[in-house]
Amino acid sequence: MEEMELLKEKINLEPTKSEMELLKERIKLESVESKMELLKEKIKLESMESKMELFKEKIRTAVMDSDYAENIIVFGEGKENAKICMIGEAPGGEEEKQRKPFVGRAGKILWDFLEITGLKREQIYITNVVKFRPADRSKTGRTINRTPKKTEIDFFLPYLIEELMIVQPDIIVTLGNVPLKAVTGEESATIGAMHGVMTTTKHSYQLFPLYHPASIIYNSGLAQTYQNDLQILKQYL
Ligand code: URA
Repeated sequence: MEEMELLKEKINLEPTKSEMELLKERIKLESVESKMELLKEKIKLESMESKMELFKEKIRTAVMDSDYAENIIVFGEGKENAKICMIGEAPGGEEEKQRKPFVGRAGKILWDFLEITGLKREQIYITNVVKFRPADRSKTGRTINRTPKKTEIDFFLPYLIEELMIVQPDIIVTLGNVPLKAVTGEESATIGAMHGVMTTTKHSYQLFPLYHPASIIYNSGLAQTYQNDLQILKQYL
C-alpha cells in the first residue's frame, strides 16, 4: 500500500512509462483482490443458505417421522450471519398462522422494545426452541397455548444447537425461562436471577438473557426492567 502511495506520488510528479504500467497492474490486482473478497463473502452466504435449507429439511423429516407429525412447523428466520440470535419458547397461534416467529402480540412488544437498542428485525435472526405451537383444547373447545413439555424441548434441542452452529451469532438473547434453560443446559437457571447480565455458555457463546416479552402483558412492572436490560444489551452492540 505504501509502495502504491509512493508510486502515485511519483506519477503526479513525473510518471515514466514503466511506472505507469506498474501502477495499472497494481490497480488491476487490487480490484481483483477486492472482487475475490466479495466472492468469498457471497460463497459464505450461499453455503449458509444451503446449510439452512438442509437443516430445515432435516427437521421436516424428523417431525414427519415423529408423534408431532400433525403440527405445523414454524422455522426461525432472519439474517443468517446475524450478530444477534434471539430465541423464544415456541410459536403461538398467530405465528402458526403466518409460519413466522414472533409476529403476534408478544412479537409486537418485542419489536417495540427493541427500538431502544437501535436494532431492527431484519438485523436479527430469531427462532424458537420448540418449532411448533404447543397447544391444548379448552373446555369450550378453543385451542389454547401451553408451555412446551420437556419431551418437546428435548426433541428440538439438538436442532437448536445445529441452528446456532449455522447462524454463528456473536450474542444469543434468550427470551424467558424455556430458552434460557435449553441454551445453558441448566435446569436450575432462572430468568429472574440471570436477566440483563452477559454470560458465557458452555459452548462459548455470549448469552444475554431477557424476560419473555409476553411476561410484560401479565406483569406491567417488568416493562422498566425490560428497558433497563435492553440499555445494557445496547452497550454490547
Ligand atoms: N412466543 C414465543 O416464544 N415465540 C414466538 O414465536 C411467539 C411468541
